[in-house]
Parts: sequence; C-alpha cells; structure tokens
Amino acid sequence: MNSKKTILVTGGAGYIGSHTIIELLETTDFKVISVDNLSNSSVKTFYRIEKITGKKVVNYEVDLCNKINLEKIFENEKNIVGIIHFAAYKSVGESVSDPHKYYHNNINSLLNILECCLKFNINNFIFSSSCSVYGNISQLPVKEDTPFGKAESPYAYSKQVGEEMIKDYTTAYPQLKAIALRYFNPVGAHISGLIGESPINKANNLVPIITQTAI
Ligand SMILES: NC(=O)c1ccc[n+]([C@@H]2O[C@H](COP(=O)([O-])OP(=O)(O)OC[C@H]3O[C@@H](n4cnc5c(N)ncnc54)[C@H](O)[C@@H]3O)[C@@H](O)[C@H]2O)c1
Repeated sequence: MNSKKTILVTGGAGYIGSHTIIELLETTDFKVISVDNLSNSSVKTFYRIEKITGKKVVNYEVDLCNKINLEKIFENEKNIVGIIHFAAYKSVGESVSDPHKYYHNNINSLLNILECCLKFNINNFIFSSSCSVYGNISQLPVKEDTPFGKAESPYAYSKQVGEEMIKDYTTAYPQLKAIALRYFNPVGAHISGLIGESPINKANNLVPIITQTAI
C-alpha cells in the first residue's frame, strides 16, 4: 500500500488548481490527488499534467456538495495530511443573476470539506478566498488586516462567509490550522503552453476573454 503523505487539491482541473498540482509534484514529495467534478474544466488537464511532470494524478470526479460521495474519497485515501480548496464557482456577474447557484455550491462544498477535516483528522487547510472580500474599497493598498468591505456580489459574499466559517471552525477545533488566500487577478500559463486558463463556461475575466478570442 502506498503510504505517502497526500495533499488533496479540490478543483484540480481548474486554472489555479492545475498549476498548483504541478508545483506540488515538481517541488515536494507529496502524493497529490484531486477532486473536481469538471463543471468548469476538462479531464484533459490531467493528461497534460502527466505530460509535464511524468506523474499521474488521480482525480475523483465528485461534486463536493455530495457529502456521501465526498466521504468515500477520504475513506479510500488514508494519508491525506492537507487540503488546498480551490473548487468554487467564480463568475461575479453570473452570481448576481443566479445567487442560488453560488451560495449552494461555494458554501455547501466548503462546509462538507471542513466536516471531512474533522471526521478524518486532517488539520491543514488552505482556502481560496478572493480580493473581492475587500469590496469597493477607496484606500489602497489593502493589507491582510484591512477589514472586509460591503460585498459587491453573491460571489464576494460567499467568500466572506467562507472565511468566517473557517474562523469559526478553527476557533471551535484548534487542531485545525487554516489560511485564506485573497487573490487579485492571477494571469499567465505554464511555460509548456499545455495548460493555462481555459474555462469551459463563458469567460468573465479580462485575460481569458482575450485568450479565448485569440484561440
Ligand atoms: N482566477 C481568478 O481570477 C481568481 C481570483 C480570486 C479568487 N479565485 C478563486 O480561486 C479558486 C480557483 O479559481 P480558478 O480560476 O482556478 O477557477 P476554475 O473554475 O478554473 O477552477 C475551479 C474548479 O473547481 C471545480 N468545481 C467547482 N465546483 C465544484 C464542486 N462542487 N465539486 C467539485 N469540483 C468543483 C470546477 O470544475 C473547476 O475545475 C476559486 O475558488 C476562485 O473563486 C480565482
């Protein structure tokens, strides 16, 4: 049995998740697995990751909102020591026209994965938050201790609530260590050109709109 320490990346077929998997495979000794239901990505990403790194990554094609199926992954993968949680819907505009889709997906998936951290004793958790938690702020630059502003969209609010949920969990269960990363606008692609930002849904950020037009 392979007893290598394992990092679970949620949203591993997505833009930031796939690049993170490559970094983990190339710079650490962890085994890396992914949970991605491919709602905004393609399974081809994993073939490309294998081409770049020479390593196979198992992806569980499971919806994180399905707690029963999610728990089965943890029962199967006994050596998970940390989780990097990227999976979420991320279109600000779509979240305004379809708030239920965003609250349902972004909140339930986080709640389920936090519950799995407790149930399966996983104490290291990284959350993909967003610069949108600062709202439409007038004072720049923002810093880590800049307070949240008024959320400008359900997407932004789902990230604020996500951070608050994590704070509450780490307070109640101090063995759980967590950090939230508040990205601004990540751009770029792996130097091989094999993977980059390539959403299957309509692009909303400036750079993917440019690249999709070019393609
Ligand atoms: N890209 C950006 O500009 C940006 C900026 C700030 C924050 N973020 C955050 O970073 C994270 C990753 O962003 P990205 O650009 O890589 O997005 P992405 O859409 O490329 O990747 C997210 C992945 O999660 C998967 N997913 C979504 N819901 C799921 C679910 N319920 N179960 C299983 N898989 C699911 C999708 O299929 C997709 O592959 C997101 O949480 C996003 O909100 C992104």
